[in-house]
Amino acid sequence: MMNILIVGAGLFGSVVAHELAQNGHHVTIVEKRDHIAGNIYTKEIAGIQVHQYGAHIFHTSNQEIWKYVQQFAEFNRYTNMPIANYRGELYNLPFNMNTFNRLWGVVTPDEAKAKIDEQRAHLRNKKPANLEEQAISLVGTDIYERLIKGYTQKQWGRPCTQLPAFIIRRLPVRFTYDNNYFDDLYQGIPIGGYTKMIENMLDHSNITVELNTDFFAQKAELEAAADHIIFSGMIDQYFNYRYGPLAYRSLRFEHDLVDCENVQGNAVVNYTDSSVPYTRIIEHKHFEFGTQRQSVLTKEYPLEWTPGQEAYYPVNDQENTVRFKQYFDLTKEQTHVTFGGRLGLYRYCDMDQIIHQALHCARKFK
Ligand code: FDA
Repeated sequence: MMNILIVGAGLFGSVVAHELAQNGHHVTIVEKRDHIAGNIYTKEIAGIQVHQYGAHIFHTSNQEIWKYVQQFAEFNRYTNMPIANYRGELYNLPFNMNTFNRLWGVVTPDEAKAKIDEQRAHLRNKKPANLEEQAISLVGTDIYERLIKGYTQKQWGRPCTQLPAFIIRRLPVRFTYDNNYFDDLYQGIPIGGYTKMIENMLDHSNITVELNTDFFAQKAELEAAADHIIFSGMIDQYFNYRYGPLAYRSLRFEHDLVDCENVQGNAVVNYTDSSVPYTRIIEHKHFEFGTQRQSVLTKEYPLEWTPGQEAYYPVNDQENTVRFKQYFDLTKEQTHVTFGGRLGLYRYCDMDQIIHQALHCARKFK
């Protein structure tokens, strides 16, 4: 049996830890924050589970993963049905017949398709030169102007005409009256919060968790004590930024506890006009059908990222993709370290993909 060090008590590190402990290995997790669960951390405020690092809705079509998470939490029946607020007008997302009916008064799918075709006709045979042209060629001008343009500009901090077309490869358009954001077979929110779910994963006599411990502050000692390291921190930091830092977009969250039972009537409301500085407001209690007297709201502000700030979305442009590849090539020499998770592999992954990745990683130590 091995002594394994895991860097990061996020979803990736916690699933790997659970699996290794089940197989008899001794696992120490070091986590630089003062809590477990990484970015899926939820904190109870006024009886409401508040998603501290952005809204997290579990969804998957993988039955094995869905069964796997049920061991650690019971999931509720939450279905994500976000609403877009454009200058006080409300539209359903993803773009579907309810959205088209509200926009144009159309009733049938054929009428909606005809309207979209009419609005993108001028770009029919043109290769999109930027994100604006790409979006219009997919959904036409009205949807682009009201529901995509301002939101995307805020997210990326620059006009859509200066963003590459590849950022939007496809846009979900549905010609049915179906407001369910995800196409997946299974979805829900763990009852009692994600932190409780991770606590249950880590509740094993072979697992020790050390919070407030930055791997890099004690790298030499920690490495010497471990037979193998599983690293879910930032890959560029591991290699001392040899090729320069990998770029991210960041976010700032503003949480407010208010004396109102129900402020916006929905968990997720996107603000799609560029004059509103935040991209969305989350009302957390609606994730769990809460009936508390108060409510907690979180405004999400996109931010330019600088090293040292919380890193959220990798910028997978050409420059950073090449840089990541250079770092990834270095991992092949580090036979005592396995890199994983969203920061270790510099990749946006949904939670089900992270669990899949973690189970695959743990299988190597059977
Ligand atoms: P995560 O970042 O959670 O964990 C890594 C841990 O390592 C952190 O706790 C960090 O502190 C620690 N660490 C880093 N360096 C360290 C060091 N040097 N020493 C010690 N510890 C260190 N997915 C989904 O399925 N549905 C959803 O609705 C959403 N929503 C969503 C919203 C937003 C705003 C974002 C940015 C992302 C999502 N996601 C999502 C994706 C989801 O957040 C993601 O899949 C998981 O959090 C990834 O888990 P990891 O363990 O890989 O990283």
